[in-house]
Amino acid sequence: MHPDPALTPVTEEITAFDLPVTGRLPAELDGRYLRIGPNALGLEDAAAHHWMRSEGMVHGVRLRDGRAEWYRNRWVRSDEVRRRLGEPELGVRPTAGADFSCNTHVIGHGGRTLTLTEGGAAPQELSYELDSIGPCSLGATRPGFTIPAHTKRDPRTGELHGISYVAGFDFVRHTVLDAAGELTHVQDIEMGGSVMMHDFALTERHVVVYDSPVTFRPEALQAGAGIPFAWDDRRPARVGLLPRTGGDVRWAEVGPCFASHTLNAYDDGPYVVVELVTLPERFDFGTLTADRYGILDRWTIDPVAGTVREERIDDRPQEFPRVSESFVSRRHRYGYAAATAAMYRAYVPLEGPLPDAAFDNALIKHDLLRGSCEIHRFAPDAAVGEAVFVPAESPAAEDDGYVLAYAHDPVRGAADLVVLSAQDFTAEPLARVHLPRRVPLGLHGNWLPG
Ligand SMILES: [Fe+2]
Repeated sequence: MHPDPALTPVTEEITAFDLPVTGRLPAELDGRYLRIGPNALGLEDAAAHHWMRSEGMVHGVRLRDGRAEWYRNRWVRSDEVRRRLGEPELGVRPTAGADFSCNTHVIGHGGRTLTLTEGGAAPQELSYELDSIGPCSLGATRPGFTIPAHTKRDPRTGELHGISYVAGFDFVRHTVLDAAGELTHVQDIEMGGSVMMHDFALTERHVVVYDSPVTFRPEALQAGAGIPFAWDDRRPARVGLLPRTGGDVRWAEVGPCFASHTLNAYDDGPYVVVELVTLPERFDFGTLTADRYGILDRWTIDPVAGTVREERIDDRPQEFPRVSESFVSRRHRYGYAAATAAMYRAYVPLEGPLPDAAFDNALIKHDLLRGSCEIHRFAPDAAVGEAVFVPAESPAAEDDGYVLAYAHDPVRGAADLVVLSAQDFTAEPLARVHLPRRVPLGLHGNWLPG
């Protein structure tokens, strides 16, 4: 039996209207907060649930006029999910990639709500009310490259960049969609091996490519990993700079690590600065131990010298770094990350709290200019997940806005959508929207305005 309620899948879909709120919801928050994660369907033994590998479920809350209009959770329907739910199958073959119940990210682009998974899954489009419409051909290129889990939208042009990989192919593919969703640019990048590239970064001039020593290894699945990829000692870790408009990649070596998630990146004169969460050397999904966490690093890349200056911003355990979407690819000052023991229990059984108990259940606001941070602590077992920054309607500063996240309320045994003031980060939440039940710790999400 799975020991941790934060990770146990929920078993039904719920629609609830006019949710109770403690505090006051800012009236200017007009849109949907959506977050997705694997939520195994029809699982008899919860212990068999793997955090990173099962049917995707989206949890969404619609906010408007200071009210929480609805909460909905929906499995993402592939035809296999439809069949298992006793629903009619669509029988639609995706233009590229597999018909898959996407579970890793949910974004809005070109007027569509898209759920995403990397590695060759076709995006699945959702309706406004989170019902599955079907596989979407946006960004599809043959033989099986699609919009990956992690994308970057240029806040000035609305272009959506992605780097996708498919197991067994020794290259990755950079694609750009314009604001309407039309494919405008494709370039393949030779990697000399079939690598796992979970995330990347974008600046005004460059696409930043992570070449981590985690490569396609089908036997890793049998070894207990959620994915057929594992650490390869023979490969160095590298970071590459690709001009946004195309050309050659300039590579530089970094210390051995897995580049897990980008906070943000920007051009700084002749240099390129990347802030990201890295996982340690020999990190392996198949043999993870609980004392090896994600930490926040800064890489300053000198493209001419081909060198990288590596700094540790924060060595306390954290993941899911985010920046204001208005500052993606531009120099930023603030970043937000989640620290939750449940995330590490998802990998392997973890006895007791993390080394720094403050980091058991917390959201972190980093001030990367001053080199300081503020910590908003939640109750034990709150299992707070990724936080998303939502700017005020007419923001007067980068951090003028709100930070939204799901947090478990152990007293009610159900989740809250928590709304923090980003500028008053450690204060009591401005509002807590009380959801009708638990939201398991998930992966990524976004605020979709309007
Ligand atoms: Fe991710």
